[in-house]
Amino acid sequence: MTFLFNSDARRGAIFAEAFARELPEVPFTMDAAKVDPDAVRYLITWTAPDNLARYRNLEILFSIGAGVDQFRLDGVPERVKIVRTIEEGIVRMMQEYAALAVLALHRNLPAYLAQQRAGEWRDIPQLQAGSRRIGVLGLGQLGQAVLGRLKPFGFPLAGWSRSPRRIEGVTCHHGEPGLEGMLAVSDIVICLLPLTEDTRGFLNAGLFAKLPRGAALVHTGRGPQLDHEALVAALDHGHLSAAMIDVTDPEPLPTSHPFWRHPKIILTPHVASVTQPVTAARAVIENIRRHRAGLDPIGLVDRSRGY
Ligand code: NDP
Ligand code: OXD
Repeated sequence: MTFLFNSDARRGAIFAEAFARELPEVPFTMDAAKVDPDAVRYLITWTAPDNLARYRNLEILFSIGAGVDQFRLDGVPERVKIVRTIEEGIVRMMQEYAALAVLALHRNLPAYLAQQRAGEWRDIPQLQAGSRRIGVLGLGQLGQAVLGRLKPFGFPLAGWSRSPRRIEGVTCHHGEPGLEGMLAVSDIVICLLPLTEDTRGFLNAGLFAKLPRGAALVHTGRGPQLDHEALVAALDHGHLSAAMIDVTDPEPLPTSHPFWRHPKIILTPHVASVTQPVTAARAVIENIRRHRAGLDPIGLVDRSRGY
């Protein structure tokens, strides 16, 4: 009954220590070439290996990230549970990034950076937080955590999900009928949706047109959700004022891509949040314990929804 770790050696060493200490009865390896494939019950990886079928006794396929869109879900045998990473490090980092992005956009940082490059010393009228409305697309572990972190600043907060949610201090909308209402009151919209067939290409010209004039975008979901050309057009026409983009399609972008040099875009290389090995190892070990006790692991993916 072996746990196979298929990711970077630095994090692997920390997982190995945690397994030796907390779950010594489950042998841990990072060496896919040497392990008996029939012994592998648990695999953690970013992308599923092409030869997944060789692990005939696999019980859980763990994504080392919060998303599972990098797996071809229908290529994973039905008997295998697919589990994404839910751990405090990934949540905390996303809270930091969202706060950074919202404050940067709220305080007109992209425009001030452009002014600095142009040698221009000029103040821009500043809205107060109580008048800057924030909308979060996706009210899962990350969307909710981000809203919680933003609360003390005093921004009016709204969120949107597939099913109805109740979150104290947040106006919640859901489903197709709820989308327009939320967009209409989002001066800064943050995308924290998983990539599924429903959300591919979701951030497009039609959606931008439903945002208030001068709205800004924070994109921390997945690259294929964003229509790059539509974003550039909305920024160039002035309907949107700025964007902070962490995920693109492809990653990295080609050097000629307009996002690199667009004065209204701040671009980061998919670093909003990164799985932290100490806390992730703890969460994975806990999930194996749950699974062996007949409970569903935390972060179990619903294949029919795709997340
Ligand atoms: P969760 O699965 O916990 O939450 C997803 C949320 O999106 C839920 O509220 C869900 O609604 C909602 N949702 C999904 N599909 C739709 C839809 N069609 N219409 C409306 N709402 C929808 O995911 P997490 O919060 O853990 O993570 C979200 C995403 O963040 C990840 O999938 C990943 O792509 C991205 N991410 C990016 C990182 C980065 O560094 N840039 C790092 C980590 C994650 P409901 O509540 O009804 O289920
Ligand atoms: C994740 C990511 O899904 O890093 O964890 O994007």
